[in-house]
Amino acid sequence: MEKIVIEGGRKLRGEVNISGSKNSALPILAAAILSSDESIIENVPQLRDIITMLKILKELGARAHQEGHTVIIKPGNNLSPVAPYKLVSTMRASVCLLGPLVGRLKKAEVSMPGGCIIGARPIDLHLKGLEALGVHIVIEHGYVKAKVKKLHGAEIYLGGPFGSSVLATANVMMAAVLAEGVTRIESAASEPELVDLANFLNSMGAKVRGAGSHLIEIEGVQKLHGTRYKVIPDRIEAGTFMVASVLTRGNVRLRNMIPEHNNALMDKLREAGAELETNGSACRVMYRNGLKPVDVTTLPYPGFPTDLQAQMMSLMTVTPGISVITEKIYPDRFMHISELNRMGSRIHLEGSSAIVAGVKKLSGAPVMASDLRASAALVLAGLVAEGRADIHRVYHLDRGYEHIEDKLEALGAKIWREKE
Ligand code: UD1
Repeated sequence: MEKIVIEGGRKLRGEVNISGSKNSALPILAAAILSSDESIIENVPQLRDIITMLKILKELGARAHQEGHTVIIKPGNNLSPVAPYKLVSTMRASVCLLGPLVGRLKKAEVSMPGGCIIGARPIDLHLKGLEALGVHIVIEHGYVKAKVKKLHGAEIYLGGPFGSSVLATANVMMAAVLAEGVTRIESAASEPELVDLANFLNSMGAKVRGAGSHLIEIEGVQKLHGTRYKVIPDRIEAGTFMVASVLTRGNVRLRNMIPEHNNALMDKLREAGAELETNGSACRVMYRNGLKPVDVTTLPYPGFPTDLQAQMMSLMTVTPGISVITEKIYPDRFMHISELNRMGSRIHLEGSSAIVAGVKKLSGAPVMASDLRASAALVLAGLVAEGRADIHRVYHLDRGYEHIEDKLEALGAKIWREKE
């Protein structure tokens, strides 16, 4: 096992290149099996979750490999419908294979994803959506077993208790592209990653309209073909570097991002007193004299993303005054609080709101990463803490941040990786 070590106190300065979006690339790689032809997918980040997805695709019988940031995938004509537990259990997002397998093979056996550290993560909306398309589903021996003779279009309402669901919308979209007739998904998730998925599917010959809004319309087609496609930049990685720049009182220019995908965060950073300048696909994020506390509530897109909640909390720990951070997507996603408090922050939890009282300084300490974004929050805290912070279990970080320590080091941080 490895850990990341940071000696805090350095301002970040310079330029950083934003990698391709993990959350776009995962469903897009899964969607590539909707055709037997070869597809070439560019701007795919080199991450542990991507390696896992490629392993699963190979296990299903596809040929798939990554060269640099390009994935070449040839699903062929002998795909198996079974996505096994040993791989699916390591990555919850593998549930997004259900839709493509059902679309292509009319059959899927995908290991049921478990809960995870950020809370219960049901898949009822995925199943409801697929059932509406005519799929018969049973849960047996820990597997979701889905079967259908012929997929048909349907009107589907996909709203859940916490709003829309990103991957449930993706699954229904991916199955519906090969259904007979028209499917309308109401209360669809509108995240940019779904627009990317729809664009990818359309480049394969699908007919998807309305992605990015809450009503998506899909006209089924008989067959899809291979394609060449470039994945969008990762708005969560970009957001993490934006917060890092303000937190370290730095001045960082992010390249190769889509600034409008981060409007909710940019609005909050400006409210906190930071200065942001966007220019095409670049954004400069600058600390200005002093910061003010801001209240943040996570919501489905275009609201403030839950995947940036922990990082924003790190910023608020050293911002004078009180801020309230409310989690409306995953009410239990607060594992980072106790670790941040070990570094000297003053945060307490009231239901699904964290009350953060800004302190003058954090102090470096050994801390444990619990999930992907919580790990990023601890790295950010380490960047401003006095002394040395050792962040254990960095494999969480490697699931979703490409070469994070190299990128931060290039911006002036003192950060390195060590064997445990
Ligand atoms: C995706 C992202 C994840 C992000 C999340 C919310 C990927 C690979 N992952 O996950 O990084 O944190 O969106 O923006 O894209 N829910 C149900 N029933 C369901 C499905 C979801 O009640 O069948 C609930 C969830 O428990 C949660 C909310 O809906 O409270 C939103 O989750 P969802 O959008 O489905 O998250 P994912 O798509 O799994």
